[in-house]
Amino acid sequence: MLGSLESHVGTHTSLAIRKSIHMSRAKISVIGAGNVGATCAHWAAAKELGDIVLVDIPDKIGVAQGKALDLACCGPTERFDATITGTCDYADVAGSDVVIVTAGIPRKPGMSRDDLIATNVKIVRSVSEQIATHAPDSTIILVSNPLDAMVYTAWKTTGFATNRIVGQAGCLDVARFRTFIAWEIGCSVEDVVALLMGGHGDDMVPLPRYTSVHGIPVTQLLSEETINACVDRAKAGGGEVVKLMGTSAYYAPASGSVQMAEAIIKDKKRILPCAAYCDSQYGVGGYFVGVPCVLGAGGVEKVIEIDLNEAETALMDESISHVKDLVGTVRETFPDLA
Ligand code: NAI
Ligand code: 2OP
Repeated sequence: MLGSLESHVGTHTSLAIRKSIHMSRAKISVIGAGNVGATCAHWAAAKELGDIVLVDIPDKIGVAQGKALDLACCGPTERFDATITGTCDYADVAGSDVVIVTAGIPRKPGMSRDDLIATNVKIVRSVSEQIATHAPDSTIILVSNPLDAMVYTAWKTTGFATNRIVGQAGCLDVARFRTFIAWEIGCSVEDVVALLMGGHGDDMVPLPRYTSVHGIPVTQLLSEETINACVDRAKAGGGEVVKLMGTSAYYAPASGSVQMAEAIIKDKKRILPCAAYCDSQYGVGGYFVGVPCVLGAGGVEKVIEIDLNEAETALMDESISHVKDLVGTVRETFPDLA
């Protein structure tokens, strides 16, 4: 029965078609089987989000295949059913509902995310060409850094509709902010709800005014000085991990990426901070920046505009201006992406 359905719908089976014909498993491809990519596969398998394809370059085919095999063998213990494939052949991503792009070099101590731009634009451009060819109906979640410029690169390369390209940064950054707030209060991290906007740089904008602990404004529970310390630690959170480990973080980045994939695959309509295309919203003028979005089967289904006060607007404007500078560098260096 499934065989005839597969031949009926071909290999580019979209999530909507899968649902309409009761094919229950979604397909998630993860490009880059390194630290973030393999951990994405891990979280996605643990959540039983669907079948998983882990792609890396030919030199690392053994690594991609080995990690896929190792992870697949967790299924009986962790109780998930999923086909997990390691490959260097992009044809294997065909039919993906979601493609998470983690391909690219990470930063080393002393480097900023922006220092990765020249190398990672080339990688993300070539990966995006492959996705456009083999998984033209997918929604892409970009993770490679510098994030805001890489989302732009993938968008320009694939020509995908703006709702089907989104960047992961806010889910990670806000999780760090929530963690630090919870530690200061001594409460469960689950009860801290927070919002963070802007680019994925040190000028990201955590918003204490939109942060609460089970509905109680955080300002009633912590001093301004302590909140500011949490804001600063969240902004520098990526760098703190790089200093400790000599490479960048991967558990929390992968967890944020899979949170987004889950929202899309299960059509959850979650409101999450993501790097989404904004034109009139927040006066951005046609760039991908971190904003609260509704994420569902349609990808970025809506960008939510919230009120920002004067100080918050100034911080957001500064962060947007940094994103524009980064994209400007991409356009100057790679005129075909202008
Ligand atoms: P890693 O070095 O462990 O893994 C990267 C993998 O990408 C490598 O296995 C490499 O062979 C692969 N790759 C390179 N070119 C490829 C291609 N054309 N096709 C398929 N695979 C390719 O690096 P890690 O730590 O996993 O970081 C990956 C990227 O994610 C970095 O750019 C890093 O800065 C970024 N990152 C972004 C975060 C975010 O919140 N947006 C958080 C953490 C990391
Ligand atoms: C992070 O924030 C490196 O962007 C990565 O951990």
